[in-house]
Amino acid sequence: MGFFEHVPLASPDPIFGLTRTFNEDTRSNKVNLTVGLYRTEELQTPVLESVKKAEKELLENEKSKEYLPLDGDKTFLDQTGVLVFGEEFWKSSQKRVARIQTVGGTSALRTGGELLFHEKIGEVIYLSDPTWANHKAIFPKAGLKVESYPYYNREKHALDFEKLHGALEKLPPKSIVLLHACCHNPTGADLKLAEWKELSRLFLAKKFIPFFDLAYQGFDRGLAEDAEAIRLFAKEGHEMLVAYSLSKNFSLYAERVGALFIIGETHKVAEHLTSKLVMTTRPNYSNPPLHGVRIVASILSSSKLRQEWEEELAVMRARIIEMRNALAEQLISKSTKVDFSFLKDRAGMFTFSGLSGLQVERLIKEHGIYMTSDGRINAAGLNWKNLDTVVKAILSVL
Ligand SMILES: Cc1ncc(COP(=O)(O)O)c(C=O)c1O
Repeated sequence: MGFFEHVPLASPDPIFGLTRTFNEDTRSNKVNLTVGLYRTEELQTPVLESVKKAEKELLENEKSKEYLPLDGDKTFLDQTGVLVFGEEFWKSSQKRVARIQTVGGTSALRTGGELLFHEKIGEVIYLSDPTWANHKAIFPKAGLKVESYPYYNREKHALDFEKLHGALEKLPPKSIVLLHACCHNPTGADLKLAEWKELSRLFLAKKFIPFFDLAYQGFDRGLAEDAEAIRLFAKEGHEMLVAYSLSKNFSLYAERVGALFIIGETHKVAEHLTSKLVMTTRPNYSNPPLHGVRIVASILSSSKLRQEWEEELAVMRARIIEMRNALAEQLISKSTKVDFSFLKDRAGMFTFSGLSGLQVERLIKEHGIYMTSDGRINAAGLNWKNLDTVVKAILSVL
């Protein structure tokens, strides 16, 4: 018997597994509302023009592919610090912010989790119920136990702030709580500013550690608006973590661009934290990747390219909103069984459709319309050609 014969087949990742089934589906009218990618009306995930221009410039002028420093590209970290926290906070307080370039948002979450665990800051991380499925895999690998706090009421199709607040109030002091900064994945239901303010007060009173996951900045209302919760917490004096993904807002998915920021109380604390972060990633992937951060840094350094990128981001945002509203309006006007008006006030690409696992199964089997079994849909998978098919299919399984 070989050394590896006992190794069982792992169950496929729920999202990437569904994509494979979708790709193998031969029906011509199939629709993929599963994956976390932005798509154009042609259902392509574009390379942005601003990115292409930055790459062209890089191709001509790049002199070396030398390793980046262990903590990553300094210019990139400085520029993204401003994007996340805003100029005012960054100017006054950046010395208190530990930072490291990461391999997308996923490794920012993992690196932050490892630091929290190994430095004995906490043993448990509390996740919203529901949350992005990978959160539940990332944090146990970092050593943390995962538990959940209530977030969404499936019957009412709405965020249940009272229940959320009530549950958090009961957590022990110094609990680590993961918060989706905007565009909650998978529900699309976000907290309002007044609710964030209330949470901030609670977190300060209970000395909770906020761990923000910011993966969709610019996909709901705008760059500053989508960082509103983070900027509020930073201003109100929290020590906190932010895992930042630039996969979606720069459409740079496979380039794996991300960063982890940790606000400490002093410059010295931030220096110590950065030194520990570096020692977390060094024995893992050693140095972060170069190409994606050079693209982002070039775009953010040029006022022309930056403007072009912001315009392209606005186009992506507008299309997501347009398709989600179109779906909502059609379902609201045609469904006699379910009131779909909740679809209208969602944020970002994802929204819970309210469909059950059984209804999703029928949509996939009978209609070739793919979504995750919790009923999450990605509005960017819709276009004006497939909208009618999707609406008719949903109505038929209600
Ligand atoms: C909520 C959330 N956080 C983090 C990520 C990580 O993104 P990436 O590692 O691709 O940058 C994703 C990606 O889908 C996400 O949905």
